[in-house]
Amino acid sequence: MKNYLIHDEWKIIEEGFHPQYNKISESIFSLGNGRKGGRGNFEEKYSGQTLQGNYIAGVYYPDKTRVGWWKNGYPEYFAKVLNAANWIGINVKVDGEELDLAHMIIESFQRVLNMKEGTLSRSFVASFKSGKQLKVTSLRFLSIVTPEVGAIRYTVQPLNFSGKIKVTPFVDFDVINEDSNYDEKFWVGEYLENLGNEGYLTAHTKKTKFLVCSGMKYNVLLDGKEHAVHIENESREKYIESSFTLDLKQKQEITLFKYGVNTSSEYFNKSRLAYESKEILNEAFETGFEALLGEHKETWARKWETSDIKIKGDVAAQQGIRFNIFQLNQTYTGDDERLNIGPKGFTGEKYGGSTYWDTEAYCFPFYLATAPQKVAKNLLVYRYKHLEKAIENAQKLGFTGGAALYPMVTINGEECHNEWEITFEEIHRNGAIAYAIHDYIRHTGDKDYLAEYGFEVLLAMSRFWSQRVNWSAQKKQFVLLGVTGPNEYENNVNNNFHTSNMAVWTLKYTLEAIDFLKKNHTERYAALCKKASFDEANETSRWKEIVENMYLPWDEERQIYLQQDGFLDKDLTPASEINPAERPISQHWSWDRILRSPYIKQADTLQSLFWFEERYETEFIARHFDFYEPLTVHESSLSSCVHTVLAAKIGRPEKAYEMYLRTSRLDLDDYNNDTEDGLHITSMGGTWMAVVMGFGGMRVSGGKLTFNPILPDGWTGYSFMIRFRGALLKVNVNKDNVEVINESPIKVEVLLNGKEI
Ligand code: BGC
Repeated sequence: MKNYLIHDEWKIIEEGFHPQYNKISESIFSLGNGRKGGRGNFEEKYSGQTLQGNYIAGVYYPDKTRVGWWKNGYPEYFAKVLNAANWIGINVKVDGEELDLAHMIIESFQRVLNMKEGTLSRSFVASFKSGKQLKVTSLRFLSIVTPEVGAIRYTVQPLNFSGKIKVTPFVDFDVINEDSNYDEKFWVGEYLENLGNEGYLTAHTKKTKFLVCSGMKYNVLLDGKEHAVHIENESREKYIESSFTLDLKQKQEITLFKYGVNTSSEYFNKSRLAYESKEILNEAFETGFEALLGEHKETWARKWETSDIKIKGDVAAQQGIRFNIFQLNQTYTGDDERLNIGPKGFTGEKYGGSTYWDTEAYCFPFYLATAPQKVAKNLLVYRYKHLEKAIENAQKLGFTGGAALYPMVTINGEECHNEWEITFEEIHRNGAIAYAIHDYIRHTGDKDYLAEYGFEVLLAMSRFWSQRVNWSAQKKQFVLLGVTGPNEYENNVNNNFHTSNMAVWTLKYTLEAIDFLKKNHTERYAALCKKASFDEANETSRWKEIVENMYLPWDEERQIYLQQDGFLDKDLTPASEINPAERPISQHWSWDRILRSPYIKQADTLQSLFWFEERYETEFIARHFDFYEPLTVHESSLSSCVHTVLAAKIGRPEKAYEMYLRTSRLDLDDYNNDTEDGLHITSMGGTWMAVVMGFGGMRVSGGKLTFNPILPDGWTGYSFMIRFRGALLKVNVNKDNVEVINESPIKVEVLLNGKEI
């Protein structure tokens, strides 16, 4: 765990440069606007530890699978959202000496992520070997208003000398992905233009042939006044620069305004990409830095109005939750149903920017409750659009008749994951997608979504479950063999409770959907049945049999559901007894030892209890929590949020808070020693759930919003916003009272601690 960042309510501040943590900082100081994003890399050259990263939504490469032993059914490739052009670059030389913080004495370094305004700034004084001191300040943002545009204000000032300063703004498309499977470069340069203060590079991706254009244009101020400079342009394949040199007197100041554009063939016609990019860039240039920044700040202010969580009396917790909300809003804006949320968002290469069950299970509730309805809906439509591929995916594994298995990892609907125990077995992901449909309808009341898109997806997934179970003659029940639950520290188990539970629930939910459609959308239902060749009578009669006769592992003595068959044969020594030097066990123990151990990577049985708590008495949930929590090592970032919500529900506020701390500052404090790879974006949705559903006790039940808030010790109060069926509510929890304020003219009924208001 690290603690080098200053606690502040709205800002993340690094005071003094920490080169040993630079890759961690680069992740933390990342910027994004839903369409593109980049790590907090320096503008100028840095030869120390760094992971250069700029990513453009949806632009990926199918990197050929690398695997030791091929198994039938494995996907051919792993999709990667590619590291794209470095458009932020500005190199600086002082009388021939290069500005490179890896080799200089640095004073008064400060790097600040302003989460309220969506900007990244930096200032420092650096001394060259010659003793010359240069002061640099910079401010950068990726416009949340015009997503193709980014802008940088970069100021240099010689403090103790007069001399020649060469400034070289550049765009570099000659970049690599560090995680490339075969050390390949993925971009092929197509076109470049570099004239005076304006230049463009266009390149396409190998195989997928996405076309991307990245450009820059700048102007220069000397001591605050527009200054004409003599520009020298240099170009080579996939690289353009456009430099100028000024003779500066001591304390004079050059300010460079660099505007960047990044466009892709996902949004523009290929033949017009360079032209459109020029138009956009020139418009941004004319608008000017301050005006662009102004509209950017205003839009961020509006986002915060409906998504902020305020925590009183605990600055570290306040910073933690805002950081999570900020990153979620930077990653996904919900205006394009082709996009989704990678576990690292735009902050690193790990997980390839692809979509996992994380979206539905952990991110969905955040967008559902804080953004306009279409934002969460688009996440569902994303899966709807992948339905054909999910059916093909199931076909490849031997399923028939329109059964769908959604991929564990995907970018375009095709499976990318190649560990058999996950690809073929971690099928509970289908359940998460069905649950999100249910969650969306429960929250918005938009039941017609079933007719529009939902039913087709549910039907195909029910067909999958119906084939995936088999009848056990010995048990005289249906069983689900050879699966991996959410707890990936168990593979190829039989009858994982969570997976079987999701299967049964999906079948029941689809049956309910059919009833609804028959009554309310008769014609549409008939058309959908025809489209899917749905033999309702036959297919649903098997589903009903499964629902009635599914085997769920249960321990009579302890009165608990078992994670899987045979779980009680394990040595159930609690995780607290593991030698702390051997944690995390994933980095210290052999895989074989982990598989035999009772230790649980992340909420598994408890995931089901969380999702279906309405079925159970609190005491029943507590019994499960007391059995599984001591065995859980929380080695996935997705774990502690579920445990926070359950601990709060069963009246264990201290435990809830302990779990919450792990999720809220996971990246800021680098809890798991892996923030340098990128941020845990999807678990950030879990942090939001921990506060709103955990401490705030928010649920939607019987069409009503309900709250049962608790106040963690050490906080004097907190508040959060919820959008619900057109209304916007603010919930204020204080020591003495709870207020629910309806900030909209729309009437809503709310249950507060069981009382209707
Ligand atoms: C977790 C999965 C998750 C994946 C991506 C893994 O460590 O076990 O549940 O989908 O990370 O976040």
